[in-house]
Formats: sequence, structure tokens, C-alpha cells
Amino acid sequence: MTYQLGLIGYPIQHSLSPWIHGEFLDKANLQGNYKIMEIDINDSFAEKIEQIKNEGIMGFNVTVPYKQTIIPFLDELDDTAEQIGAVNTVVHQEGKWIGYNTDGIGYVRALEHAYPELFQNKSKKKVLILGAGGAARGIYHAVLISGYMQIDIANRTKESAEKIALLNKSKAKTSILTLVEAEQRLANYDLIIQTTSVGMKPNTDQTIISLENVNPAAVVSDIVYQPIKTSFLQEAEQRGASIHFGHTMLLYQAQFAFEIWTKENVSTDQMDEELKKILEGR
Ligand code: ATR
Repeated sequence: MTYQLGLIGYPIQHSLSPWIHGEFLDKANLQGNYKIMEIDINDSFAEKIEQIKNEGIMGFNVTVPYKQTIIPFLDELDDTAEQIGAVNTVVHQEGKWIGYNTDGIGYVRALEHAYPELFQNKSKKKVLILGAGGAARGIYHAVLISGYMQIDIANRTKESAEKIALLNKSKAKTSILTLVEAEQRLANYDLIIQTTSVGMKPNTDQTIISLENVNPAAVVSDIVYQPIKTSFLQEAEQRGASIHFGHTMLLYQAQFAFEIWTKENVSTDQMDEELKKILEGR
């Protein structure tokens, strides 16, 4: 069997997913290919999706700007994709097109791989999410289902943070903060997750908040991976905190997608370092 896989989105010519999934196919000893299927924003999405579905593809990833657009073209959604309202992975199974979202769970897997101790006594740990866009939504949901009991959200616009907090149907508590409040109360948190694009190339000197009050025992995580070590992570490190890199989320969301398509759980060993080198060379 040959796995026909791919990616839809726009623009995606520089995507790292073909490299990642190519490595996974090799590691799992599977025949297959993963191709870029760019859909121009001026094209008819419906027509392009029909074409792709008719080409015998078994699964594909979905990225910006189509993570919500794809939903009416699917037969089923898994619980996570349904609740988040966004799909990044589609599988063709028994004649049905099923949508998943592996971003948040991938993020949590990456974090657990780097800092297993963060996942002990979760009910006593306090988490702060900075930002309230699509990425924050997936991460909030995944952090919530992984068992943390206090997950606060700070955002420039409070309303978007309030919308994300509606995902919480458990006993966990969520306070909504302004960015200034987050700065002031920073010492309370064991895990701080930066989910916005602030600090991404070319604006590499920007940081969303000051980390002056960070607890040196905390882990500070940034989903931005260009540059690998953002100014935010540099500041965290200077203040004695542990840091967690954004490119690992890219690897682990892909690992989970690959598992959905092939049922193979491939290791990401060595790929972390290789991916870092690829990104640093850009
Ligand atoms: P994504 O889907 O990639 O997460 P998004 O939906 O555009 O991206 O979300 C961007 C997030 O970054 C939002 O939380 C946004 O804050 P607002 O809700 O107030 O717009 C945040 N953001 C973007 N630029 C920012 C900046 N310069 N300062 C603070 N927050 C910023």
C-alpha cells in the first residue's frame, strides 16, 4: 500500500510538513508521499477539495486559512475538532472524510516530552496562556483535558479570551486577565504559554509582556519557532526560568496526524535537532 498524503493551505510552498512526514514514512518503513496542494485564495475551494478527494488521497493536513473552511466538506468531526471548531488533519476512512485537530494535543505532547515533571501534581499547578487566537483555543482545550485545574488567559482583547474560556465544561478555573495584569501576577504561574505571533520574524525584538516577575521555577513556552529562541524565551532564560521551544509543537502535531493516518506511533528522536538546523538556516 502507498500512503497518499498531503497538505492544503495558502501559502504553503515553504511548509516543513513534507520533510517531517517524509521522515515519518521512512521511520515507519511505509511507502508513500506527502504533497503540497496549495489552494489559491482566489480559486473555488469547493472545486479544489472535490478534485483532491477524487485523486485517491488517504489523508491530508489543513493549514491557514482553511482550518474552518474545510468543515462543511467533511462527513464527521472528532470531539476535539468539533469543540475547537477547526480542523488540521483529515482522514479518509471507510468512505467517510473525518476531521481532527492535532495542534493542541501535539503541543501538550511536546511539552510533556520536554518537561515530564510539569505533568505531575497537575491539579496544583497554575497555567497562563498569553493570546486568544486560533492557536490559543486549541492549546487551552488540550491543557484543560490534560488535567490542569487553573488555566488563566491573558489577551489584549478580553472578549476573545472570554470566548475561549467557554470551552471549559469541567471544574477547572479560568480567570481572564489583561496583559498588564498578567505581568503583575506572573510569579503565580508554573507554566506560561505564549500563543501569539508576537516576536516572529521579522519582528524578533518584540515580546508580548515583560517577564520581570517570572518565577525561576516556571517553564516558559513560546509557539513561535522563527526564530527558534525568541526574545521572549531569551528573557525567560535570563531570569532563570526553563524554556520550551515552539518548533517541537510542529513535530508533535505531525506525529499525532501521522498516527491517525497510519496507526503508527513513530518517534521524533533526532528530528528535533534536525528541524532546528533547517529553521536556523532559513
Ligand atoms: P492564530 O490563529 O495564529 O492564533 P490569530 O487568530 O490572528 O492567530 O490570533 C492572534 C492573537 O495574537 C490574538 O490573541 C491577538 O490579540 P487580540 O485578540 O487582541 O487581537 C494576539 N496579538 C497579535 N498581535 C499582538 C500584539 N502586537 N500585541 C498583543 N497581542 C497580539
